[in-house]
Amino acid sequence: MRVKNKVAVITGAANGQGASEAKLLASEGATIIVADIREELGLAVVSEIEQMNGLAEYLKLDVRDEKNWHDVISRTAEKHERIDILINNAAISGSQPDLLSTSEYDKIMEVNSKGVFLGMKTCLPIMKEQGFGSIVNISSHAAFVGQEYVHMGYSGSKAAVRTMTKSAAVQYAKFNVRVNSVHPGMMPPMLTSAGTARPEMRKVMVEEIPMKREGKVEEVAYAVLFLASDEASYITGAELVVDGGTIAK
Ligand SMILES: NC(=O)c1ccc[n+]([C@@H]2O[C@H](COP(=O)([O-])OP(=O)(O)OC[C@H]3O[C@@H](n4cnc5c(N)ncnc54)[C@H](O)[C@@H]3O)[C@@H](O)[C@H]2O)c1
Repeated sequence: MRVKNKVAVITGAANGQGASEAKLLASEGATIIVADIREELGLAVVSEIEQMNGLAEYLKLDVRDEKNWHDVISRTAEKHERIDILINNAAISGSQPDLLSTSEYDKIMEVNSKGVFLGMKTCLPIMKEQGFGSIVNISSHAAFVGQEYVHMGYSGSKAAVRTMTKSAAVQYAKFNVRVNSVHPGMMPPMLTSAGTARPEMRKVMVEEIPMKREGKVEEVAYAVLFLASDEASYITGAELVVDGGTIAK
């Protein structure tokens, strides 16, 4: 088992990639904290994990809320006496009707960028104190290249995740705490995607991908599992791109 007996907090684990990461890490021996605003979906993921004899618990977390972060992390650290893994995965989409909306910009930044900062702010001192930890921040290929159909604030929020990851990696490497980022390309639509969820738009987008298909959530989950595990013990500040060759083109 690749993450046996490790305790992993996964934000946005109630759906999509986060849910896939939760199930994969649980199947590899980790205890999962499913941290999400969507309670019903979160509890369903916990029950799926329990059905496969894994260990999981749902805790309500709004990643924008610093006090909520503090409560979730201190409760987890007290109960399990450690936090091995934090996966900052929760986000909202930049696929919105008005790509120049200032209020959308603010909303996207608050969840996607500040939410990741607050997660690291809350967990890094605990990981430093315990002398180990692995943080995986979910960014996007939007952190590298311009995207035609998505609010530019989304790209900005994911670029912030990419570079905050590097600073945290450099600052905490000496404490044996690793921080890496994963950059998915075109995956199944997010719950909050508008235009890019439309089948005719997806057809156009797929044509731009060298592999000529969208990614599967499990393909991101395996990248996350590797970085979260001790197999990646000398890897920090790295970017793992999971995009079917789009950025390479
Ligand atoms: N789907 C894609 O094409 C794609 C591409 C590149 C990167 N990503 C990134 O991958 C990650 C996962 O995306 P997904 O496709 O699984 O999306 P999703 O919409 O299926 O899942 C996102 C989860 O985050 C949760 N969430 C949203 N706001 C939250 C908040 N304030 N606090 C706590 N939880 C919150 C949602 O409830 C949901 O469970 C995100 O960081 C996303 O930006 C997605």
